[in-house]
Amino acid sequence: MTNRPDGRKADELRKMHAKVGVIKRADGSALFQIGDTIAIAAVYGPRELHPRFLQNPEKAVLRCHYDMASFSVTERKKPGPSRRSVEISLVTQKALGSVVDLKLFPNTVIDVFIQIIQANAGTRCAGITAAAMALAHAGVSMKEMVAAISVGKIGDKVVLDLTKEEEDFESGASDIPVAITSYDKSVTLLQLDGEVTRKELSEALKLALKGCNEIFKIQEKVLKEVYTQQPFLEKSGVSQKQPLAASGGKK
Ligand code: CDP
Repeated sequence: MTNRPDGRKADELRKMHAKVGVIKRADGSALFQIGDTIAIAAVYGPRELHPRFLQNPEKAVLRCHYDMASFSVTERKKPGPSRRSVEISLVTQKALGSVVDLKLFPNTVIDVFIQIIQANAGTRCAGITAAAMALAHAGVSMKEMVAAISVGKIGDKVVLDLTKEEEDFESGASDIPVAITSYDKSVTLLQLDGEVTRKELSEALKLALKGCNEIFKIQEKVLKEVYTQQPFLEKSGVSQKQPLAASGGKK
């Protein structure tokens, strides 16, 4: 396999678009689009956790809820939770948990809701990227940012940011969602659907880092813009945050 169906190079991301402040009622919110995949994340909290026996007196509980809208895919998705959404919610919580300063907010809960409104592969990664932005937008203290991207193998070629068409490649494809932190470059999510050799995995991780570094730039740009216009300490109400947008990518 030499050419990708949409003409991208092996190390090229789909076109991206990011925006924060998309849900006024939330404490923080963000939209992240990569190609035809669109994720919206809304953060509520830190707020007191009920029922109280679930509280942790040492740190906040980070709860992530991933959902894909019925209309997000061509073949209507059955509404409600599924094994897949429970798994993705859990890995999202793991991918974000290590960067959030949970010890600052004992006995509280931080709820992160991720809604996929359009899906064309890579939805868990788009969700994690949007959720990290929404947490930062909510003013939740974080040690660093997190971005996520899927890498994989189509036939014998390792490529960045697979589309659904590529994932369904008839001769077989492997899909590796990866989340990376912005400063330490720690990997906080690594899953594998398919088979790869050790060499291919190493190549894939290099591509993932390249992709995440591009995503960090967009996350930073959008968040800096919103806080330059309205510094965090002067924030008088979430509803006053203005939606701002930034785009990147070549397509
Ligand atoms: O979306 P992600 O790659 O994180 O997870 P996946 O379970 O590997 O799903 C890959 C893609 O399959 C999704 O992004 C959707 O485009 C599609 N999908 C679908 O059409 N219907 C579903 N019920 C689940 C996934």
